[in-house]
Amino acid sequence: MFAIRSPLDKVCTIEDLQVLARKRVPKMFYEYVDSGSWTEGTYQQNEQDFKKVFFRQRVGIDVSQRNTSSFMAQTKVTMPVALAPVGLTGMQYGDGEILAAQAAEAFGVPFTLSSLSICSIEDVAEQTEQPFWFQLYVFKDREFTQQLLKRAKLAGCKTLVVTLDLPVMGQRHKDVKNQLSAPPKVSISSLIQFLNHPRWCFNMMRSSHRTFGNIVGHARGVNSLSSLAKWTSEQLDATLTWKDLQWVRDEWDGFLILKGILDVEDLYQAASIGAQAVVISNHGGRQLDGAPTTISVLPEIISAANNQTDIYMDGGVRSGQDVLKAIALGAKGVFIGRAFIYGLGAAGGAGVTHALEIIHKEMLTTMALLGESKVSGIGLHNLRLP
Ligand SMILES: Cc1cc2nc3c(=O)[nH]c(=O)nc-3n(C[C@H](O)[C@H](O)[C@H](O)COP(=O)(O)O)c2cc1C
Repeated sequence: MFAIRSPLDKVCTIEDLQVLARKRVPKMFYEYVDSGSWTEGTYQQNEQDFKKVFFRQRVGIDVSQRNTSSFMAQTKVTMPVALAPVGLTGMQYGDGEILAAQAAEAFGVPFTLSSLSICSIEDVAEQTEQPFWFQLYVFKDREFTQQLLKRAKLAGCKTLVVTLDLPVMGQRHKDVKNQLSAPPKVSISSLIQFLNHPRWCFNMMRSSHRTFGNIVGHARGVNSLSSLAKWTSEQLDATLTWKDLQWVRDEWDGFLILKGILDVEDLYQAASIGAQAVVISNHGGRQLDGAPTTISVLPEIISAANNQTDIYMDGGVRSGQDVLKAIALGAKGVFIGRAFIYGLGAAGGAGVTHALEIIHKEMLTTMALLGESKVSGIGLHNLRLP
């Protein structure tokens, strides 16, 4: 008898998931993910710089009982890895946000819903049991922003991630060439792309969510797809300052994380308005091309934080080894963006679970070779620093 094999059986790494996602997701949506701003220099370097960090191997230590559990935002997690907010996740696979949130919940790691998600806050809350995290863009329409906060609270969210590195939109050339827009324009070229991906089409047709669920029908004057396109292009707020973030702090009584910090001065500002944590992030190399890589600035920000603010990081994390390098340098946790999105594009919820399993297994094996049994034991002593 031959057993029916799943295409995931041969997937050993996040890169394998990426290869599968490239086959299964229409080009315009695949490239929306696999792209950075302008030269893509920062995007590519984020991954490369992890390779400059080396581990210190230890032997002769009992590592038979290893455990990756930890805490993020005062909640116990199976491993210190949260799913990052990714706009348009539901265009990678029908109902993408719901499937990813369910996979994260079953695994015991946080899922962060983007303001610019396809499935809405309420859609995700209805299909999950545990509170998920909500990511906020402070839109020009402050009344709508305030409503988003209320909806997130009502849905049971206790952790808010406010993203600061988008006063204007960085340009990804691939999106321009693919004519990616929100909502996607239907052209002959896009129709051909969709029809060449029947599995993707089938899953999209099965879903009732195909536009920005948090916005349509909620933001003033946005009731149709054409008014949505205008609204999203107008709502990024280039006037945003720390005063506005103090307003958000006052509006949100839960755990507050500020995302998009790369500079010590901004860490101090974040701490002064009462943020409990920050995410060192360059938006996965999608905003300021030429910005430093996140793993390279991590040590100076950890040192400046002086244990007063929790430091998380994201950008270029593609393995359990990358997670451990960030933890060893002092991060309390990492966020993964593309790593789980490739899983989703490759195989829906099962693909997200597979991505988490790959990272988890890589962490357990690496911990054994470092001579460590617990995440709390990992530190600078596990690295060979220049
Ligand atoms: C396709 C895509 C869409 C994203 N959308 C958002 C978003 O809506 N809000 C946000 O705060 N960050 C967004 N990000 C940034 C991620 O939250 C995260 O910072 C980044 O993906 C980390 O880099 P990595 O993909 O290399 O892990 C997006 C990233 C990607 C790749």
